[in-house]
Amino acid sequence: MSRIIGIISGKGGVGKTTITANLSAALSLKFSKKVTAVDCNLTTSHLGMHFGIFFYPKTFNDFLRGSASINDVIFPHGTGVNILPASLNLSDLVGIDMIEIREKLQNSLKENDFVFLDAAPGFGKEALSAIRASQEALLITTPDLPAVTDILKAKNVLDQMNVQTIGIIVNKVTGKKFELSAKEITDTVGLPVIASIPFSFDFSESLSNKTPLVAYKQNSKASIEIFKLASFITGENYKEPSILERIFSKIFRV
Ligand SMILES: Nc1ncnc2c1ncn2[C@@H]1O[C@H](COP(=O)(O)OP(=O)(O)OP(=O)(O)O)[C@@H](O)[C@H]1O
Ligand SMILES: [Mg+2]
Repeated sequence: MSRIIGIISGKGGVGKTTITANLSAALSLKFSKKVTAVDCNLTTSHLGMHFGIFFYPKTFNDFLRGSASINDVIFPHGTGVNILPASLNLSDLVGIDMIEIREKLQNSLKENDFVFLDAAPGFGKEALSAIRASQEALLITTPDLPAVTDILKAKNVLDQMNVQTIGIIVNKVTGKKFELSAKEITDTVGLPVIASIPFSFDFSESLSNKTPLVAYKQNSKASIEIFKLASFITGENYKEPSILERIFSKIFRV
């Protein structure tokens, strides 16, 4: 039975799609899990780009419209992750009822360990449909007041919709004094911070190389934090690479 986990934020641009792509790839590469990542952000869809998938004959939109089967719209990636990309064409929104995604996904994606739903920002119909389709949720924020305020709202929505929140992922952390600390975020929202992902231009570099960072630079600081997050979610061990291993992997890359 799949665990269907929504990647939710409230505020836009905090890193939902980046974390969906990298957490999915981390679970597949390091923990041998069967993972499907679904682009539930139909109006501004980007998930496929993180895996270098840009042009697809059939998309999640066709599946939701009933004009394609689930197997027509799943794209297997080299990391082992199955991707359900949404159309990049706005006209493909016609005839889609997002409210039905819960029933459609639950019936079609049973044979996975994990299904991640990359949600739209905010609390409009699109985002609420992804929340409604989730059994569990990860809340993504950056360490600043506007984003944290919005995950507090998201937590209340998730509670009302009986979706269990696993915890908070703080992304783009620089460690500067003005940032909210993990403790301040936990005290404000009332949920544990389960991962702090550093701000890193490695994410932009890996995006331009069309490969999730955990596959592109396995031993980077940010990748290690994502593997630790994957380990927390599965409850399985992950051995962090030693400093020597990290230095050697850097030299080999050069
Ligand atoms: N830890 C990070 N360090 C540096 N840049 C990051 C990090 N995480 C994400 N980014 C960058 O931030 C931008 C927004 O990330 P992303 O698209 O994943 O956010 P999002 O929450 O999915 O946005 P939206 O709400 O629009 O769907 C991207 O350019 C991405 O490369
Ligand atoms: Mg996104």
